[in-house]
Parts: sequence; structure tokens; C-alpha cells
Amino acid sequence: MKIFNLSMECYPVAKVGGLADVVGALPKYLNKIEGVEASVIMPWYNKPFVHEHSFETVFDGWIHQSRHMYQVQVMKERSKTLGFDLYLVKIPGLLDRNDPYGYWDGDQQFLAFQHGVLHWLSAMEIRPDIIHCHDSHTGLVPFMIENCPDFSFLKDVKTIGTIHNGEYQGQMKWEMTGYMPWFHGENWGLLDWDGFINPLAAMIKCCHAFNAVSEGYLNELFHHFRGLESLVSQESGKAYGILNGIDTEVWDPATDSFLDFNFGKNDAAEGKLKNKTVLCEEYGFNPDLPLFSFIGRFAGEKGADLLPEIVWKSIQQTYGALNIMVLGSGDKNIEYQLSELTRSYSNFALDLGYKEYLSHKIYASSDFLLMPSRVEPCGLNQMYAMRYGTVPIVRYTGGLRDTVTDVSSGGSGINFGTASADDTVHAMHRALHMYHEEGLMKNLIQSNMNYDFSWEQSAEKYMEMYRN
Ligand code: ADP
Ligand code: GLC
Repeated sequence: MKIFNLSMECYPVAKVGGLADVVGALPKYLNKIEGVEASVIMPWYNKPFVHEHSFETVFDGWIHQSRHMYQVQVMKERSKTLGFDLYLVKIPGLLDRNDPYGYWDGDQQFLAFQHGVLHWLSAMEIRPDIIHCHDSHTGLVPFMIENCPDFSFLKDVKTIGTIHNGEYQGQMKWEMTGYMPWFHGENWGLLDWDGFINPLAAMIKCCHAFNAVSEGYLNELFHHFRGLESLVSQESGKAYGILNGIDTEVWDPATDSFLDFNFGKNDAAEGKLKNKTVLCEEYGFNPDLPLFSFIGRFAGEKGADLLPEIVWKSIQQTYGALNIMVLGSGDKNIEYQLSELTRSYSNFALDLGYKEYLSHKIYASSDFLLMPSRVEPCGLNQMYAMRYGTVPIVRYTGGLRDTVTDVSSGGSGINFGTASADDTVHAMHRALHMYHEEGLMKNLIQSNMNYDFSWEQSAEKYMEMYRN
């Protein structure tokens, strides 16, 4: 079975969040299954990866967008060290920039990527069994295959859509159809939701099957999906909930080269303490105090706006008996508020920016990881935390609910119900009690490292969906 994954991100080529981790791991684990050939197709970005690897050009052609012609080059990575074939689509003027998102002409970029990929496959008569689209940026592909005469060669290809995040649906104004490949106009309704072109809605309508990245999140979508609740109900016959895995080869505290000290299950408590001591020294913390961390995008979904209040309340209420470390970036107001707090509280450190190496160090060094998410389709941080012997403190929602059971029920972490600073701080008080109970933390560290979130199981579930 030949599967092409279409995505804007893929680790280690270009990563903004968990989408990259998933797309960089799922095909690798699918390829371990007999008879499967899974690859990744993504845009070309000006990132270190593309300069450090060699590529061969496998296609060079042109597409029309509105009144413009754009060159489309497809480059295949030569070394095959990723565990899957990687194809980068370069469209000079549109897909040749530094980052996946954040440009004024983003919609045009996403349309050009989808158009370019389908043009290449049709022109070269490459027909995979499945095209697997990830998130709204690639959500129009199932529609285009069905409705654009230029891609009739691909008609028999089955399409899958994965919803990593239903908060972002990629709505566009109708005038953007000018940038799409020509399609049969009578089917315009498939693109429409509430007066806009809605790529995520179109994906759900047109694909052969779709999934959300956890069972819990799929169930939530029936009730909270930014207006698409009725659509997901109507299309529920082809819906799956498949929990993400984690790449246990990349995320292994015993071999992780980003860590100051590697450790395994047997020396986890000591290993974590050694890493923590180094990190604490770097940020001026007392390593005897428990370390709580947050890693992630500063966005409302992640509850990042609650962080300033969480920081000052928890430090004041405990008279400074804990340390808090935040790594992330995003909303400028949150960045500003947190930066201000570092002046008042020496128990609080902030590292602004995206730093892959530092995230690994923090997972390894922390005692607790905070995830006060309002929405969390799956969440990978809590799984990385557990793999590194850290106790997750999570709001009971989406994928967090599916992966973290409260210690009071024999689970791996602390759950709380409301995305509020008070509920989070209350959970932190519970964590402090645990921290000071001799033996308890040591056992929890070990048992958390025993959880199996590896991709093998989830890859099998994807196979089941593909086969159906
Ligand atoms: P999302 O994709 O919604 O941001 P996930 O939990 O699925 O959330 O995945 C987030 C991924 O991004 C994890 O691999 C996490 O370690 C990483 N990450 C988030 N913010 C940063 C950051 N500032 N620096 C390094 N890694 C980060
Ligand atoms: C999205 C979600 C996150 C999920 C990730 C990978 O970014 O916000 O919860 O883990 O996709 O599927």
C-alpha cells in the first residue's frame, strides 16, 4: 500500500508544533509494516535541513494561479535516513520562504502547494493508493481530486484527512477560487461553510475517511467544533479517533543527545536530579525545590494566558517553595506579562523562543509539567514528560483526558477540571504534597516511564482505517 502524507510540517525538516512530530514519525512506523510504503510531501523551506541534505529534482513544471504562472519543482531527499521518502515542493515566490506560516498570502501558498502536488502526480502518472491530508492546509485535496478535470488520473486514489486541530479551519473568501485549479462549478457547495470556503469542512465532506488525533477529542468535536458540529455528526460514519504516538527513538532519555546526563528506568531519579541541577544552575534556581514547567505555544488553546496568574499566585501562596520555568512564544501580550514577572520573582524563569534542545532538557529536568489547555486534540508534551519521568498536571480535556489518569486513581499525573489559574494552582498544591512524600515521587517517576505511547499501536490503527 502506497501512502503519501501531505503536510506543512515534518520533524526534523520544519517544526512548529506537534503536527511535525506526528508527520515525522507516523510514516516511519508505517514503513515497518510489511507491504507499506509511506512517504511525506511538504513545502520547501529555507531551513538548515534542506542545506544539510542532498536532493534530486524529480519534477519541474508550471501551474496557473489566477493570472500568474508559477514554477513547481519537486525534490526528493537522497539519503533516506528519515525512515521514509521525503519530497519537498518548491514554488519560487510562494514556497521558498523561511517558515511554514505567518505570511500575508498564506492562503495562496496553501492552495499552490495542493495544486502543485496534484499537478506533479498527474503529470508524472504517479498514483498512490492513499493520499493522507493533515489539517486544513491540505484539506482541499480530496475536493480537487474529485472535481478538477486536470486531476482525473487520480480519481481512484482514496483520501484520508486528519484533524490535528479543529480550531484552525483555514476559512478563505470566495474570491480565492481564482487561485484554485479549475473545477466543476456545480459542486461549489462542497467548499462552502457559512459563506466561506472552509478547507477543513471540505476535507470532512470529500475525504473517504477522517480522524481526530484522540478518541476523546473526536467525541468533543460533536459538541465543540467552531460551527462544524453538525457536519461531523453527519459524516460520523467515516470518523475515527486515533491517539497519536510518540517517536520513542527520538524521545529516549537513555540516548537523547540534548541531555546533560542520560538515564534509564533504573537510575531515573538520580539521572533527573543531575539534569535538574544543571538546568537550575543555569537559571539561578535552588535545585532542592520542585521544578514546574510549561512548554508550548502562547495561545488561548494552551491556556497560556493563565500563566502569569499561575506564576504569581503559586509563588506567593507557597512563599516561594517552588520553581517555575516557561519555554515558548506567541501572543505578544503574554510574552510581555511573563517577561515582567521575571523581574519580581527569582523563582520564575522564562525562555522566549522555539528551542528544541531546551525542550528536551526541560522534560528531563522537571518534576512536573503544566498543561492548563482549554483545547488539546491530543497533546504530545504530556507523553514526552512521562517518558522522561516527569509528572504531568493537565486539564481534563481531549487527548489529555485519554492519556493522563489522576494519581488518586492509580494514574500517572494530576487532573483538574477548569482552565483557570485557581484550578491549576490548586493542582500544584497537590503536586507539592506528593513531592514531599518520600518514595512516592520515585515510584511515580518509574511507573510513568513504563507507559507505552509508542507509535506501533497507533500505526496499526491507521492501517485499519486505510484498509477500510
Ligand atoms: P501543539 O502542536 O498544539 O503545539 P503538541 O503537544 O502536540 O502541541 O506538540 C507540541 C510540540 O512542540 C512538542 O514537541 C513540544 O515539545 C514542542 N514545542 C512547543 N513549544 C516549543 C518551544 N518553544 N521550544 C521547543 N519545542 C517546543
Ligand atoms: C495539534 C494539537 C495537538 C496535537 C498535535 C499533533 O497541534 O493542538 O494537541 O498533539 O496537533 O496531532
